[in-house]
Amino acid sequence: MNPFTYRDNQLYAEEVSCSKLADAYGTPCYIYSKACIQSNYQAFADALQNWPTRICYAVKANSNLAILSLLAELGAGFDVVSGGELERVIRAGGDAGKVVFSGVAKRADEIRRALLAGIYCFNIESGDELDRLESIAKEMGIPASVSLRVNPDVDPSTHPYISTGLKDNKFGVEIDQAWDFYQRVAQSSHLHAVGIDCHIGSQLLDLAPFQASFEKIFELVDRLHGQGIRLQHVDVGGGLGIPYGPEDAAPSPQEYAQALHPFMQDRQLELVIEPGRAIVGRAGLLLCRVEYLKHTTQKSFALVDAAMNDFLRPSLYSAWHEISPVCKEAGEEALYDVVGPVCESSDWFASQRKLCIRQGSLLAIRDAGAYGFVMASNYNSRMRPAEILVDGDQSWLIRKRESVEQLFADEMIPS
Ligand code: LLP
Repeated sequence: MNPFTYRDNQLYAEEVSCSKLADAYGTPCYIYSKACIQSNYQAFADALQNWPTRICYAVKANSNLAILSLLAELGAGFDVVSGGELERVIRAGGDAGKVVFSGVAKRADEIRRALLAGIYCFNIESGDELDRLESIAKEMGIPASVSLRVNPDVDPSTHPYISTGLKDNKFGVEIDQAWDFYQRVAQSSHLHAVGIDCHIGSQLLDLAPFQASFEKIFELVDRLHGQGIRLQHVDVGGGLGIPYGPEDAAPSPQEYAQALHPFMQDRQLELVIEPGRAIVGRAGLLLCRVEYLKHTTQKSFALVDAAMNDFLRPSLYSAWHEISPVCKEAGEEALYDVVGPVCESSDWFASQRKLCIRQGSLLAIRDAGAYGFVMASNYNSRMRPAEILVDGDQSWLIRKRESVEQLFADEMIPS
């Protein structure tokens, strides 16, 4: 569903006008649609209902407590990659028993906390990590459930920064090492093998790389089974993309499930998936205001009050995001580079976009619900933006705009 639509040339978030939200909460601010998140989650739940499935939402995509609490209510489990994310899940009322803990370099304190909280399993990425987990589990007297993250060496054809399933990436262990790993787990009285996992990358718009990784991982599951190692689940990671640009087309959860069908049918396995972007990406936008228009001999700039510190994707990955006027005005359009106030030329949101705007116009940077606020920083000592959740004709402030006091609350000047 698209929760952001025009009525009388005004952009609405569900039933609320975005310009009213800007008046009420100020800009820049993130706006999220509750109905869209629910419907995206439900699409996965419906598509995968034929198999016992755990949908472990990837917390890194958007970790606001209100969003996590909404997903917990829908029955989601969670994929976390740090102690901080685990604390967020617990604080939001999520069930630690439905948490998978991913990440290549888990610290000892994070492992201890996760064992105490009783998470479902640790996704293990190296022999050193397995050793550490075993010794902590032994010391605490709490057995640990583990899954091995394998690196299937499949090219996901996505931006190199978010490609994770190739041999030269730091992620996972090579398939050939899987047998030794499970042997070691079987010999330990403190470890229990529950599954196997992989995650080949993010923002995949094609099912072929997923299928290639399914082939490798399910073949490995069969081989292990033949050798007496019976796993409870296969975790196929996240990565399903969303259409950012007008020419993009992303597979639906239904199509994704069809791709899984030949692998899941007739195998007595539970499925785990870790979607992030596909659940929250299209459910959010970043609202900002044009501070100035600047015309040079080369081009025209729309200087807005949001910056790369608020939303990093265009600067970091050259990501394309649609930019929509909040109020469609009659008048002539011109080409603008939409840029922020930060002192770097990489501080841009879009280049050469046709817009009819003036000083004070509001703009919406679309599809910013995933990897938006979570990647925000205080660079240039800018306060991070507010976050708002819209539900029908209601809106809730789910994170206050940062204050000057918060900006340096934890700093000290030595006497
Ligand atoms: N599972 C693991 C182990 C992951 O590393 C990730 C994402 C996910 C699940 C969720 O992937 P998703 O379904 O959201 O594609 N900041 C980048 C994306 C980085 C993704 C990192 N890992 C961006 O803005 O595109």
